[in-house]
Amino acid sequence: MVKICCLGAGYVGGPTMAVIALKCPSIEVVVVDISVARISAWNSDQLPIYEPGLDDVVKQCRGRNLFFSTDLEKHVSEADIIFVSVNTPTKTRGLGAGKAADLTYWESAARMIADVAKSDKIVVEKSTVPVKTAEAIEKILTHNSRGINFQILSNPEFLAEGTAIQDLFQPDRVLIGGRETPEGQKAVRALKDVYANWVPEDRILTTNLWSAELSKLAANAFLAQRISSVNAISALCEATGANVAEVAFSVGKDTRIGPKFLNASVGFGGSCFQKDILNLVYICECNGLPEVANYWKQVIKINDYQKSRFVNRVVSSMFNTVAGKKIAVLGFAFKKDTGDTRETPAIDVCKGLLGDKAKISIYDPQVTEDQIQRDLAMNKFDWDHPIHLQPMSPTAVKQVTVTWDAYEATKGAHGVCILTEWDEFKSLDYKKIYDNMQKPAFVFDGRNVVDPEKLREIGFIVYSIGKPLDPWLKDMPAVA
Ligand code: NAI
Repeated sequence: MVKICCLGAGYVGGPTMAVIALKCPSIEVVVVDISVARISAWNSDQLPIYEPGLDDVVKQCRGRNLFFSTDLEKHVSEADIIFVSVNTPTKTRGLGAGKAADLTYWESAARMIADVAKSDKIVVEKSTVPVKTAEAIEKILTHNSRGINFQILSNPEFLAEGTAIQDLFQPDRVLIGGRETPEGQKAVRALKDVYANWVPEDRILTTNLWSAELSKLAANAFLAQRISSVNAISALCEATGANVAEVAFSVGKDTRIGPKFLNASVGFGGSCFQKDILNLVYICECNGLPEVANYWKQVIKINDYQKSRFVNRVVSSMFNTVAGKKIAVLGFAFKKDTGDTRETPAIDVCKGLLGDKAKISIYDPQVTEDQIQRDLAMNKFDWDHPIHLQPMSPTAVKQVTVTWDAYEATKGAHGVCILTEWDEFKSLDYKKIYDNMQKPAFVFDGRNVVDPEKLREIGFIVYSIGKPLDPWLKDMPAVA
């Protein structure tokens, strides 16, 4: 029986290994983590992450050929294939701070593998890492190997949160990069055999190590770039009376462009896009390519601009002040169907409104009060470092309340900001919400989930990103 061990039981390690266990009953899969709380949650009925379909997959395999454990050394030493799926956040201090990937967690995982290994291993980079990381990992492993042979593979993960199980069941592609030596190619084949249990052969791509590592960074940069492109156009739509939904539809009809990932919004979030692009920027700078670095940096700048433009729109529409006003925030997760709030645009929007002294009442169907308070008390880039994985009691941000009901959140509010595209926000009783709000009542739709015309008929003043402006908003000071 092939044994697989995965270091890191997070959003990637957990679902990916659960699907491997489901599809490969003859493989034993053990997911290990240094976080005792995370492993306990994976072994309980309340899994640590919300992902449609995940509960079902875990229930089918847990205790059969899928196990979650904190005994890292035992399972690493027994495994044939070791996936490393630890966090690779942006460095917060030292060389490359604010851009470079922090590989502390990866390096300590590699050193531990070298320490406990007693037989040959295939070590798989599952985390997103800077191109050329495999070379560094190889050095750490081989210099500490005591005669053991390690083969490093790059197998970046392309799942998207919210659709992780579907993406893992039917991936567009699985990418495996390895050394072009006979041993390297043997390791590539071994990993290919695992995926071949359910992924059609023509979707399993094999490349050299550096292409595989760089493809992941490039794919995330391209995806984020599409969002920033349509968001940049949304600002021009508002200035001219064009409708971004119509523009995006027309643009996407061109088969060379395609219709996906063209929704204008308050901005992209999530743990990957920003950190991976910053990392790409840093790598370009280190390779003496400042023009390329600046090109990709612009994707982040437009994203920051979109968030601050949204806050400015809220404040300027409401007579240039939100001080003491109640603003309801519907949705805090970075997108629908996940409880993940890492780098969610809601953090920057809420911080912007709090900076203008608003009182905020937040409702999200999947995010707890504790998480929201923690996010709002945290500094940029701090979220993915271990201190913040531990339970802590931050000083609650006093102007923020969190409710478990959209109607409660909006009661007595002056304005509503929709910041996540949860399906349930489409079918709220907006008449009831309007009746219970201060007048004039504003809706600022950061995800284009509501029909602005219908809400205007109720009496709301509505701002929808990239859509023709409400006459009220046209009269307000220009937004920059
Ligand atoms: P996460 O933060 O949810 O999980 C990482 C886990 O690794 C944590 O539970 C942490 O306790 C654990 N860990 C840290 N050091 C460890 C060590 N030495 N030994 C064992 N466990 C250790 O992170 P997530 O979201 O799963 O991301 C992991 C990697 O996958 C990152 O590099 C990320 O960029 C990449 N990725 C993430 C995607 C996503 O949608 N979240 C999608 C594709 C790639």
